[in-house]
Amino acid sequence: MENSRAIGIFDSGVGGTSIWRAIHNLLPTENTIYLADSKNAPYGQKSKEEIIALSIKNTELLLDMDCKLIVVACNTATTNAIQELRDKFKIPFVGIEPALKPAALSSKSQVIGILATQGTLNSTLFSKAMENYKSTKIIEQVGHGLVNLIENGQISSLEMSQLLESYLAPMIQANIDFLVLGCSHYPYLIPQIKKILPAHIQIIDSGEAVARQTQRLIDEVTGRSAEQLGKAIFYTNTDPKVLSDILVDQYYIQERDF
Ligand code: DGL
Repeated sequence: MENSRAIGIFDSGVGGTSIWRAIHNLLPTENTIYLADSKNAPYGQKSKEEIIALSIKNTELLLDMDCKLIVVACNTATTNAIQELRDKFKIPFVGIEPALKPAALSSKSQVIGILATQGTLNSTLFSKAMENYKSTKIIEQVGHGLVNLIENGQISSLEMSQLLESYLAPMIQANIDFLVLGCSHYPYLIPQIKKILPAHIQIIDSGEAVARQTQRLIDEVTGRSAEQLGKAIFYTNTDPKVLSDILVDQYYIQERDF
């Protein structure tokens, strides 16, 4: 079955492009449309009701653009709103959740760390997931301020390094051997994080798992695009510079109000 309609992807801002990248690498012939809702970032400090309303707004815009499947490339939106989205819209959704499972199953020290937003760590979905790993000590840390710095183009700033050091030091002391990145913005911090963590601590994010799940749904439900390189379109509702800097390569980026 062939279906050249685009995969729609949204996040509170530029971070979900880490997920877009994983999807584009695995499914290069698929057309993709990415929404960076940077105007409303960070979602992580908002109420569940606000996160649901923003997720509905983003989904409606992607459906207006005739997307065949929607990837919620935001842990905060997934853990707070994916059920409501699935109930409201008759289209396949792929969500992203912190990769606790591979970390907990592979941990030798039985201590792992997770860095995520307040919205994700406070969600019912996350609390339920935690119940599956009772024999592992999980050190939770809210990444206060990290998303704002990324959205302001300050990935490599001194403030970023200082914040990361303060969040990671207690985890290192507690002897974690895995760090789970539970926010789609955080993979862009891996070079900085690696400077702080001892080399034996592994960093895990969920990008590839999301891409594989997207591939599964496309094969089973929606159908693939034709065998030529897919088109990628990015929409942002703030200054496009941060998005174009984070994407590095030249892509079609358009500013619009949403
Ligand atoms: N990138 C998002 C996540 O995966 C949300 C960050 C935010 O807006 O607070 O959680």
